[in-house]
Formats: sequence, structure tokens, C-alpha cells
Amino acid sequence: MKMTREQKYRLLRQAEPGELMHLAEKVDLCDWRQSYHIQPHTGLLNDPNGFAYFNGEYHLFYQWFPLGTDHGMKYWYHVVSSDLAHWKDAGIGLEPGDSYDSHGAYSGSAIVKDDRLHLMYTGNTRDSDWIRHPYQCLAIMDKDGTITKHEQAVITDIPAGYTDHFRDPKVWQDGDSYLSVIGAQRSDLTGAAVLYRSNDLINWTFEGELKTSLPSFGYMWECPDYFELDGTGVLLLCPQGLEPEGDRFRNIYQSGYLLGSPLNTATREFNHGEFIELDRGFDFYAPQTTEGPDGTRLLVGWMGLPDLEYPTDDNGWAHCLTLPRELSIRNGRLIQRPAAGLAGLRGEERSFSTLLNDETRRFEGAEGSSYELSFTIEQFDSSGTFGIEFRTSESERTVLSYEAGSGTVTLDRSNSGAPASPAYGTTRSCTLENETDRKSLEFRLFVDVSSVEIFVGDGEEVFTARIFPDPSSTGISFFANGGSAAFEASFWPYH
Ligand code: FRU
Repeated sequence: MKMTREQKYRLLRQAEPGELMHLAEKVDLCDWRQSYHIQPHTGLLNDPNGFAYFNGEYHLFYQWFPLGTDHGMKYWYHVVSSDLAHWKDAGIGLEPGDSYDSHGAYSGSAIVKDDRLHLMYTGNTRDSDWIRHPYQCLAIMDKDGTITKHEQAVITDIPAGYTDHFRDPKVWQDGDSYLSVIGAQRSDLTGAAVLYRSNDLINWTFEGELKTSLPSFGYMWECPDYFELDGTGVLLLCPQGLEPEGDRFRNIYQSGYLLGSPLNTATREFNHGEFIELDRGFDFYAPQTTEGPDGTRLLVGWMGLPDLEYPTDDNGWAHCLTLPRELSIRNGRLIQRPAAGLAGLRGEERSFSTLLNDETRRFEGAEGSSYELSFTIEQFDSSGTFGIEFRTSESERTVLSYEAGSGTVTLDRSNSGAPASPAYGTTRSCTLENETDRKSLEFRLFVDVSSVEIFVGDGEEVFTARIFPDPSSTGISFFANGGSAAFEASFWPYH
């Protein structure tokens, strides 16, 4: 049920008596609640925010509208983990409603300074004519977890040449000062990212725009993120308004990266290669990274997209976050691997090994709706298509296939269960690079009650998707079509 504007822009304390309890009861009845992903208790979750390692733990926040599945009044909700696998609730992180964030505490990031976690975020406000006025704001979390908002916004004006689509600060340290990249829309309605500098995280100076070779690439860039990895500059961005091109850009909005020489912070020049999508699946947006205590670069994304309806809307909740991924760079591309700590979720291993020749075989003894499964295909005929069907029943299946001749990997959710945005298509594909050398190929699947994340090869591609199967669709089968291949698989139930 869609809410009116008045209903959407209410704080929790303005809820009707019993409203939240009624919503929670609806959520409880939902068959698609996840078992090990971060999801909202009620209402809508979107972007990951404030991801940081602080005071011996990982802190992660997310955009949250508690009272429904619309994009309404956004809070930051806070979760904490020591291993990136098990997360504890830490309650509301930021409550909107002050003059500078009267219509939502929008996305932002975190940085540790003076033993305190500094949260820089966008305060969304609307005036009486419903014109948007964004502010960049600051809040500070002590070691005991108390979060205090700075009494005033730290960036109040939009520089000349940009519209009110100006948000999502991502802050990092640069020598003795701090830099923040902010997503922007130019007055000519093209997307951009701009740079600010500060010595204290309070007083910020506008430096100018990041100079990329994408002067006209969509109408808005949301959630930019910049970091360096092994001497390479990495800019993540979420451009809106790109047209589909073959297998690329099939989702409503895109999320990808540019790799280049480290950003020249004085001239703001960033010399980079092509824009590459981070994820090949249906549901991935607004990722944010941070650095772990050992220097590992970690990424979490929103497993959802703006402006779409999802089957759980009727149950009073929507969306979850992706699993954390570890990033590295190889051959000019970002490699993403599931965070090592996830192995802590594994139950007892079951394995399977078989040779299939134009046939399908069930993985006996392994089934469910919440598990990790890795499998390798070897000695495959180049004429064949090989893969796995999971969350299967008589009538449902989600299918992952590899066409050896072309090196094309396809995820098909056309028979996965309740449809999710079928207007955007029901399959996603990509063609792997360096195909001719490939003698074997590994896939790692992380299946939860209503999602799957698939890491291809050693993380060269990832497919993330929500799926909405019946709870009884729990089977797993491997198949070989038009040729033969050897399959080796390991399965771990997750709790
Ligand atoms: C991206 C986004 C951000 C914004 C936030 C609001 O999904 O639109 O640009 O800060 O969500 O919830």
C-alpha cells in the first residue's frame, strides 16, 4: 500500500498507536524473511552507510524507513559485528527531524578521528513548496556508542553549477586533512562527483569537480566512493539514466567502478579506464567500502534498487544488505570475494562429485533455503552448457548456467517464484574474459531464504539477486546439456 506524503514523512514517534506492532506482526508472517542477511525489523532498508572498523568492531548502518516500504523519512539503523558474519542490533543510529535533516538522514560515511567515529551524512529537507535543500551534516559516536549530532550542518550551500541533487558524502583521510567526495547533478542535468577538503571534519572547502572522462554519463551520480588499492585509484559511482547496452546496464540504475592512476587531489584529475559494473545480477546498488584492521578493503551493497516494488512490500518490509565482500585488483578489474569471516556460519559439510553427460542429477542429501554451496566444473566439452538449478520444486527453479563455447554465465529467475520487476527482464548474463584458457570454473553461491549471491571464478564476476520461492522449493540439481563435464561440489547449511 502506497502512503501519502504526510504518512511517509513521519517520525517513529508520530506513528499511530499500535501501527508499528501491526506492521511487525505482518512482517513476522512473511515466508521470505532472511536468515543471515541484514534486514529491517519493519519497513524499508536501503543504502549501507557509515561502514567502519572502530573500537575493535565493524560498525555498519543502513538507510531505514521504519513505518512502511515507501522511501519515506529515513533513519540510520546501526548494526555491529566482530567477524562480518554475525551482526548484533545496536538500535537507531541517527534520527532525522532537525532543521538540517527534517526530511531524512540520507546516506553518508564514517571516519575515525580522535578515538571517535565521525559520521558525515546528507540531511534532506523540503521547504513548504516541497523544494529540496540538502545539507551535509556531522554526528559523532563515542566509544560507548552514544551518537551526538553536531548542532549545525557542516556544508550548507550547493556550489554554483549544481542542482539540489547533491548528497552522499564519502570521507577519507589525505595526509593531515580529510577529503569528501559528494554525488552531484550539474545544472545541465548530467551526473558528477565533487570534492571537498577539511582539516577538522567541520569546516569544509569546496575544491571542485572530479575530472573524469565521463562528462555526460547519466543524469545523477549517487553514492560515490573513492579509495586506493595496491596503488590503483578506484572510484565507485551509481549513475542514473544510462541506457541498456547488450548485457550491460539492464537494471533501473547502475552501480560500477572506474580504475585509474591515483586521484590527483590538487588538480582533481582522475585518469581512468571504462566504467565496469560491480555486479551482474538484478538487485545491487549504492555500495560502500571501508578498510578492515588488516588493510583489507571491504564492500557492502544494498540488495535492492530504488523506484521498484518487491514481493515483500505486502508483508510490510523490503530489502536487505549484501554479504560483505573483500576487494582486490587483477588484470585491470576489481575482484570481489565473500568476506573470510562468513565461513563462521557454516554447518557440517556435504560433498558431491559426479560426471554428467547430457543429463541432470540431484545433489542428494543437500537441500534447503539457507546455505553456502561451491562447485567446480571441469573437463567440460566446449559445445555444452553446464550449471545448477537451486531452490527447486516441481514448479520452481532458479537456474545458473555456463555456456562453455562463448563463456557466457546466465542467471535465470523466470521460474524462481513470485516475480520481481519482470519488466526489467528475468535473466542476467555476462561473458567471462580470457575464456580460451579456461579448463575449470568455480562458482560460490550464498543462498538465503529470499536471495542468492553468486561469485564466479575467483570473484571476477558477481551476480546478486532477490528471489521469492515457495518455502518448499529446496532442491539442488546439477545439469549438463549438449556435452559432458565433471562436477565437484561442497555444501554447508547456514544457521
Ligand atoms: C541511493 C539514495 C541516496 C540517498 C539515499 C536516500 O539509494 O537515493 O542517494 O542518500 O538513497 O535514502
